[in-house]
Amino acid sequence: MNILKFRNGDGIPQLGLGTWKSKPEEVEQAVIHAIKTGYRHIDCAYIYDNEEAVGRGIQYCIENKLIDRDELFITSKLWNNAHEKEQVKPALKQTLSSLGLHYLDLYLIHWPVAQPQSVKFPTRGEELLALEKVPLATTWEGMEEIHQEGLAKHIGVSNFSISKLEALLENAQHTPEMNQVEMHPYLQQPDLFDFCRNHNILVTGYSPLGSGDRHPNNRRTDEPKLIADPTVMEISKQLNCTPAQVLIAWHLYRGSVVIPKSTNKQRIEENLKAQAVELSAAQMSKLTALNRNFRFIDGSFWTIDGSPYTLKNLWN
Ligand code: A2P
Repeated sequence: MNILKFRNGDGIPQLGLGTWKSKPEEVEQAVIHAIKTGYRHIDCAYIYDNEEAVGRGIQYCIENKLIDRDELFITSKLWNNAHEKEQVKPALKQTLSSLGLHYLDLYLIHWPVAQPQSVKFPTRGEELLALEKVPLATTWEGMEEIHQEGLAKHIGVSNFSISKLEALLENAQHTPEMNQVEMHPYLQQPDLFDFCRNHNILVTGYSPLGSGDRHPNNRRTDEPKLIADPTVMEISKQLNCTPAQVLIAWHLYRGSVVIPKSTNKQRIEENLKAQAVELSAAQMSKLTALNRNFRFIDGSFWTIDGSPYTLKNLWN
């Protein structure tokens, strides 16, 4: 398993198991199978509504001595309704309790978006709070506290643009170590990627396969199908591998962490085996040429009528 390094020299396995959209009744077995197969990195979040089931999978593996806790890398994310400084620790503790863990390896601010504590997912614009009211710098102070206490070994952000990272970097005592963003050949974000690299911030790519299992409310009917892209398919035939493996290998070559989601045993194995896929420089160039700045997760759920968020101020 290839390992990328944080600034302090700690490692993060470059390939992890994604759990967004994994059903609680399936994800426990998926986690167990993934760990048995060789995965050492599981990506979770409070809002995925499945952390207890993920935790049961992790506990099963630890109790049955398949793995020690310190051999695993577990990430989770702070939800939008706990952005006040004093809300960060209780939110993290709730996640730790669900997962059955004493610490996380990495904790991220899930979105640069704030909501009142009583709102889990906003359905009206008034249920979103402007960042002027709950500044990200204040949320970050809460993140720094839990890091100092050792409750999360590393801290970072998700869905942050260059300008939001720049603003954080100005005042942070402990600067973000990770930015997890949607990333794949249709959304390569070279400027963001270079910015992160130049500031010692690792990048994790989510939705590496195009997240075809999103709820219909959360997808456009005319969206392109990344996993069936003709160039991706052509390269998979050349290398005698699958299109998913090409998409995962693209991250491994580029130097981003990648977290394909699957609850299917065969596909969990297949995705891990992408580590053996060797793309040539010419094949990488062909994949680079696919960039079209296309987001599957465009954040429009934060821009409902009356919301202080727009697609422009979200991604700027
Ligand atoms: P499943 O969980 O049934 O395997 P993303 O990681 O971009 O969010 O994509 C997840 C989607 O891709 C899920 O629908 C998942 O289905 C599917 N998927 C995961 N691995 C593969 C694979 N190797 N080949 C095809 N589809 C896959």
